[in-house]
Amino acid sequence: PLNLSGKNFLTLLDFTPEQINYLLDLSRDFKNVKRAGTPHRYLEGKNIVLLFEKTSTRTRCAFEVGAMDLGMGVTYLDPGSSQMGKKESIEDTARVLGRMYDGIEYRGFEQSVVEDLAANAGVPVWNGLTAQFHPTQALADILTMREEFGDDLRGRKLAFFGQVGNTASSLLVICAKLGIDFVQVGPQADVPGNRTYRPELWKACQELAAVSGATLTMTDDIDEGIQGVDAVYTDVWVGMGQSADLWCDRIALLEPYRVTEEVMAKANPGAIFMHCLPSFHDTNTTIGAEIAEQFGVTEMEVEDAVFESEQSRVFQEAENRMHTIKAVMYATLR
Ligand code: CP
Repeated sequence: PLNLSGKNFLTLLDFTPEQINYLLDLSRDFKNVKRAGTPHRYLEGKNIVLLFEKTSTRTRCAFEVGAMDLGMGVTYLDPGSSQMGKKESIEDTARVLGRMYDGIEYRGFEQSVVEDLAANAGVPVWNGLTAQFHPTQALADILTMREEFGDDLRGRKLAFFGQVGNTASSLLVICAKLGIDFVQVGPQADVPGNRTYRPELWKACQELAAVSGATLTMTDDIDEGIQGVDAVYTDVWVGMGQSADLWCDRIALLEPYRVTEEVMAKANPGAIFMHCLPSFHDTNTTIGAEIAEQFGVTEMEVEDAVFESEQSRVFQEAENRMHTIKAVMYATLR
């Protein structure tokens, strides 16, 4: 079961707890060899292609550096430079790329696209973010928690503040699989602009949690949600590819759930702050400045003081994207 050679990495739902822990162990080993400066060109002679229909800093760089460290060649196709979806179907694109490359990464819109690629490529396909899931992110986040709290995270608790999106969905899955208690803290009201868990995903994760011993909860009550929490996680209020028109509703809905120093003080002693990045922790970005001016807010999903605090592990998570993605490529291509 620990031989993942040839397997796709589309959602963590497809992996057993043992396989996930194996990938995390491998990630830790790759981090150690990288830090030691030991060459690890184990996949020399192989080539991969990165298909991006949305922008990226971390995921693209993690795949590129990870592949180069493993001795592989890399082709990057940006949103404007392939025929896929415009002049050529997903299926045909997959059949072409599968004959040239040993592995394919996809970042884009629907999960069905990455599934279509996988069904037709004949080589491993890796999900670099879809509307539904961000599995390589969740793997890096749990590696970060392991580094803080030890390899066995059963009984530890992660709170996700805000609305449910791809990252929150993959975190729910990995926590349910590994026995990590999970709470989503955010508006539960059925109002326009609000997003909570899809019932079928929540139900599937409850079944996984019954096996692993994890508790899964959703609450709109911050004091209730923050009880016993070891890792406080949040994400931007409007995700990539979503309309800027959403900001007005989202700010009104989510401002009460900003991660503040007051919130962090109510978490467990030694609790850490986590964020997948990029973040609007300040308004020192083009989009951030526009939103600040339009809506009169100066801080968004997390206070700058928390983002920059001793408790913050956000750049450790970003680095861990590379070690975990390297582990995924190695395990599936070896
Ligand atoms: N967290 C994350 O996926 O970052 P990028 O969008 O920069 O890849």
